[in-house]
Amino acid sequence: MANPSTASITQSDIARGLAALGLAKGHKVLVHSSLSSFGHVEGGADAVIGALLEAVGPHGTVLVPTLTGDETLSPARPPVFDPAQTPCWTGRIPETFRQRPGAVRSRHPTHSVAAIGAGALALTQDHLQSVTPCDARSPYGKLAQLPDGYILLLGVDHEASTMFHHIEEAVGVGYHMQPGFARATLYIDGETIHRHYMLHRYGPRRHFNAMEPVFIERGIQRAAHIGQSYARLVHAGRMCEVTRQCLAADPRILLFDK
Ligand SMILES: CC(C)(COP(=O)(O)OP(=O)(O)OC[C@H]1O[C@@H](n2cnc3c(N)ncnc32)[C@H](O)[C@@H]1OP(=O)(O)O)[C@@H](O)C(=O)NCCC(=O)NCCS
Repeated sequence: MANPSTASITQSDIARGLAALGLAKGHKVLVHSSLSSFGHVEGGADAVIGALLEAVGPHGTVLVPTLTGDETLSPARPPVFDPAQTPCWTGRIPETFRQRPGAVRSRHPTHSVAAIGAGALALTQDHLQSVTPCDARSPYGKLAQLPDGYILLLGVDHEASTMFHHIEEAVGVGYHMQPGFARATLYIDGETIHRHYMLHRYGPRRHFNAMEPVFIERGIQRAAHIGQSYARLVHAGRMCEVTRQCLAADPRILLFDK
């Protein structure tokens, strides 16, 4: 019998695990991930991506955060972004995914998303116009409006879930944006353009995991192990609705220091 600490997992195993978790054909799913959480994956990041695409099928869409902003940015030090070149810091799976043939990457200088599938273009194409990173026109805002939109956390917890920033923006929590506008530089299809954006504020420390018991109680999160990776699947629209209700009752619920 294989030692579970050294066992390998394949693309087919992961696809089966995703289906058992509830990810189905036609779903649109934004995936935050840790490759090492699976143990050893035969074929690495490409196998995980293959399994995700297999699970949602040709009518579905897989999205990954390809974030490039960090706490050093400010209106005095604005972002510079090339969707074809700028590497993301969100892990091996998104960095591999964004370079895969057929992937489209949204044109936002800090919070871009890469997508493959039937809804890829519609979900990503307006992000250039998003003055705040995760507004209603962003892939996050659009995903939250879909009846079959989901957030999938593969070996990471809710602290990694960018959808919470969409909710913070929609509610206007007051602690999430830097004051003023940054004049970003974007290199798009051989052209240099400049646009003004409000930037994410990296403090104060968030506590998004505080919402997990509520999601479980409301029945909007499913979880299971896929290999050694603990995977959570959450309905995006209901997650936003429930979190907004909780924020209305306690405006500091998403903060670590109350
Ligand atoms: C930071 C984070 C990416 C680190 O996870 P990780 O598993 O250590 O790193 P990656 O997903 O980049 O995977 C690379 C690692 O997988 C491992 N790895 C390499 N090949 C592998 C394989 N075939 N099978 C399994 N693991 C493998 C290695 O340890 C590798 O690390 P190395 O490059 O230092 O050698 C993860 O914890 C995380 O936070 N992900 C979510 C990020 C996000 O979406 N943030 C949004 C914030 S709003």
